[in-house]
Amino acid sequence: MANVIVVGAQFGDEGKAKVTDLLSRNADVVVRYQGGSNAGHTVVVNGDTYKFHLIPSGILYPGTLCILGPGMVIDPKAFITELAALKKRGLDDSQLKVSATAHVTMPYHLAIDAAEEEARGDKKIGTTKRGIGPTYADKCDRTGIRIEDLLDPEAFRAKLEWLVPKKNIILERLYNLPPQDVETIYREYIEYGKQMAGYVADTSAIIFNSVQERKNILFEGAQGTLLDLDHGSYPFVTSSSPSAGGACVGAGVGPTIIDRVIGVSKAYQTRVGEGPFPTEQFGEVGEKLRQTGTPWAEVGVTTGRPRRCGWLDLVLGRYAVRINGLDCLAVTKLDVLDEFDEIKVCVRYKDRRTGQVYENLPSMAGAFWRMEPVYESFPGWRQPTSDCRSYSDLPAPAQRYLNFISEQLDVPVAIVSVGPKRDQTVVVEDPIHGPKRVLTVHHHK
Ligand code: IMP
Repeated sequence: MANVIVVGAQFGDEGKAKVTDLLSRNADVVVRYQGGSNAGHTVVVNGDTYKFHLIPSGILYPGTLCILGPGMVIDPKAFITELAALKKRGLDDSQLKVSATAHVTMPYHLAIDAAEEEARGDKKIGTTKRGIGPTYADKCDRTGIRIEDLLDPEAFRAKLEWLVPKKNIILERLYNLPPQDVETIYREYIEYGKQMAGYVADTSAIIFNSVQERKNILFEGAQGTLLDLDHGSYPFVTSSSPSAGGACVGAGVGPTIIDRVIGVSKAYQTRVGEGPFPTEQFGEVGEKLRQTGTPWAEVGVTTGRPRRCGWLDLVLGRYAVRINGLDCLAVTKLDVLDEFDEIKVCVRYKDRRTGQVYENLPSMAGAFWRMEPVYESFPGWRQPTSDCRSYSDLPAPAQRYLNFISEQLDVPVAIVSVGPKRDQTVVVEDPIHGPKRVLTVHHHK
């Protein structure tokens, strides 16, 4: 029995879905604990590509209990559409559960997300416009609608009658947008409630029972550490807690049940949306990374936006190890680097203004923007790695690159992904039952 959290160690899009899919083979329960349809998880099975936004990718394994946890925000229309498409492809939804207390993304959240982005002008965040921020804002404001409200027509109508006029003041007066209508929303969302009712459950209790029964539980993170509301590159973050701590709050479990935390990092770095990205490459290197990100170029799964690309940033890697307490790392998309003569990796930052050098991300306002990467350079291996299935199959320079990452971050690299397919994977050591990480004593500097 092992309960495992899989988190993104970068800015999201690390290839978590492939790693989650690999680990789901031995999981009895897969839980999404935060975020909503802003996520885009791609899994390739037997040549078929599946793209998930809300539903845990564990649904690919019949019999695996798949949970949308209370920390999520759910757009019911997106949920129903995604589920219908998966069912059409023959996937079994009998083990799918949705938390009664997850929050609902309403039409006014979608409208406000888009309007706020527009109004921010050159200070925009670059959100996915899926209503994520406004839905979580209402949750914190204690004016949110929860999934259970969609199952209670009277209470739902009363909430809408109170909330919609308030939202209309924002829409009309602040953003010059048309008002929304209580009756129209009521009818549409009560219908969604009816369609979702069969899936709605007290998911925290279900997970607790699974723990008691010694089942294997996998907590599937969306987005990444640097997009975490508390620990990311604020304000260029999402509005939830993708980092490992968020799994307990978002799923409704105690930290004592967690056995292991696995971080997922690409062999390089990408970011979608605005915000600091010290190792970003604008010229030929950035374009080559973007175009090579196989089999689809580096383009956002949810929004279709081209991803910003750059060299691997180990300062941020160290930060992700600290924030998540990572036990081991899965390094993905190593094959994307196959054709590079030289591979750079950022090992330190230098403050452009003061010249001070940092091994760890300094905690001070605006610092992120002033950081200039200090690189170490590695020779490329200039040969395909997609057919490698063991560590010794990997070219020596690729092994050196991976060893360097592991040494610098002080965590073992347990999995290396060399392509999108399930079998294009090198398992270096057991990611779940490997030795518990012993923290090296060194001062944070
Ligand atoms: P939001 O989550 O739509 O509010 O967007 C906030 C920021 O997080 C933007 O920079 C998005 O591009 C980014 N973001 C949200 N979800 C993902 C994801 O799944 N992958 C990568 N970036 C994401």
